[in-house]
Amino acid sequence: MKTTSHRPILVTGAAGQLGAVGRTVTGLLLDRGLPVRAMVRREDERAAALRAAGAEVVVGDLFEPADVYRVVNGCRRVYFGMSVSAGYLEATVTMAAVAREIGVDALVNMSQMTVSQMSIQNTTPSPQQRQHWLSEQTLAWSGLPVVTIRPTVFLEGFFLPLTGPSVRDRGRIELPFGRGKTNPVAAADVARVIAAVLADPKPHLGRIYELTGPRSQDMDGIAREYSDALNREVTYADIPPDDWVRQLKQAGLPEHLTKHLVTMAELNRANRYDRLADGVERVTGQPPMSVREFVSLHADKFDGRQSLSKTTNTKI
Ligand SMILES: NC(=O)c1ccc[n+]([C@@H]2O[C@H](COP(=O)([O-])OP(=O)(O)OC[C@H]3O[C@@H](n4cnc5c(N)ncnc54)[C@H](OP(=O)(O)O)[C@@H]3O)[C@@H](O)[C@H]2O)c1
Repeated sequence: MKTTSHRPILVTGAAGQLGAVGRTVTGLLLDRGLPVRAMVRREDERAAALRAAGAEVVVGDLFEPADVYRVVNGCRRVYFGMSVSAGYLEATVTMAAVAREIGVDALVNMSQMTVSQMSIQNTTPSPQQRQHWLSEQTLAWSGLPVVTIRPTVFLEGFFLPLTGPSVRDRGRIELPFGRGKTNPVAAADVARVIAAVLADPKPHLGRIYELTGPRSQDMDGIAREYSDALNREVTYADIPPDDWVRQLKQAGLPEHLTKHLVTMAELNRANRYDRLADGVERVTGQPPMSVREFVSLHADKFDGRQSLSKTTNTKI
C-alpha cells in the first residue's frame, strides 16, 4: 500500500479547453515532483501529452458516479473544475458524495468571483453563476476540507477567444461592456494559486481566495494595454448587446453558455466587474499578470508584431 505522501493528487478537467486551468495545474504539480492523476473525458492527443509529461491519466465522466469513485479512489487531494456546463451542480454534488465516502485531505473547488456578491435574495440570471453559488453551499454542508477559488473573468477563457479575432482583423475589442471597469485574471495565475494550495493545503483549508489581475479599468484602458503589447492601435467599440447575442448564437454556443456570457456583459455594464483582490499574490508570493503581459505573451493569436519574453513556464 502507498504511503499518504505517495498517493496522487487528482486533477479533474485536465485535458483543458478554454482556460485550461486543470492542464496547467497538472504541469505545475509535476514540476514540483508531486504525483498527479489527471482526469480526462477521452483519450486524445491532450491525454497523450499529459501522460508524456508524467501524469497518471484516467478517463471518466464527472456525471457518472462510478467513474468519479474510480478516479478519486486512492487520491489524497482533489482539484475539482470542469468546463462551463449545464450540469455543473450535479457534477459537484457527485464529487462531494464520493470525496466524503473515500475521504480526502483537501478539495480545491473552482468557483467564480461573482459568488462573493450573491445571496438568497441576490442572485444573477446566469445559470452557471447560480450553480457555483449552490455548489459552494453544498460543499460547505458536506463537511469536506474545502478551499474555494473565486477568480474573476479569465484572460485565456474569455478575452482571448472573444476579442482575438476582432483585434486581429479590425484592431478593435468589440464587446457590449459599456463604461464598466474590469480586471481580468490570467488562468495561468489561477492555476499557480491552485497548485500552491494543493501542494500544501493545510494553511488554506476553509479559505476563500478571490483572484483578479493587478488593475481594474474600463475597456478603453484595456484596449490601451493591448496597443502597448502589440505595438499598434487597438480601440474599444461598445457594441449593442443584441448584436453580441446574435454573434454568440451564430457561433452555435450552447444555451447555458450563452446565458452566462450575456449575464457577464450585463454585469459589466452595471460596473459589477470592477474588482480588485490580492489572492494571487497572497498565495503565490508573486503579483498577477497584467493584460499587457498576457497579450504580449499571446501576441501571435492577436497577430501582434512584438512579443515580450515569456513570463510563465508551463510545460504541458
Ligand atoms: N472562463 C472564465 O472567464 C472563468 C472565470 C472564472 C471562473 N471560471 C470557472 O472555471 C471553470 C472552467 O475552467 P477552465 O476554463 O479551465 O475549464 P476548461 O478548460 O474549459 O475545461 C476543462 C475540462 O473539463 C472537461 N469536462 C467537461 N465536462 C466533463 C465531464 N462531464 N467529465 C469530465 N470532464 C469534463 C473538458 O473536457 P473536454 O475538453 O474533453 O471536453 C475540459 O477539458 C468553470 O468552473 C468556470 O465557471 C471561468
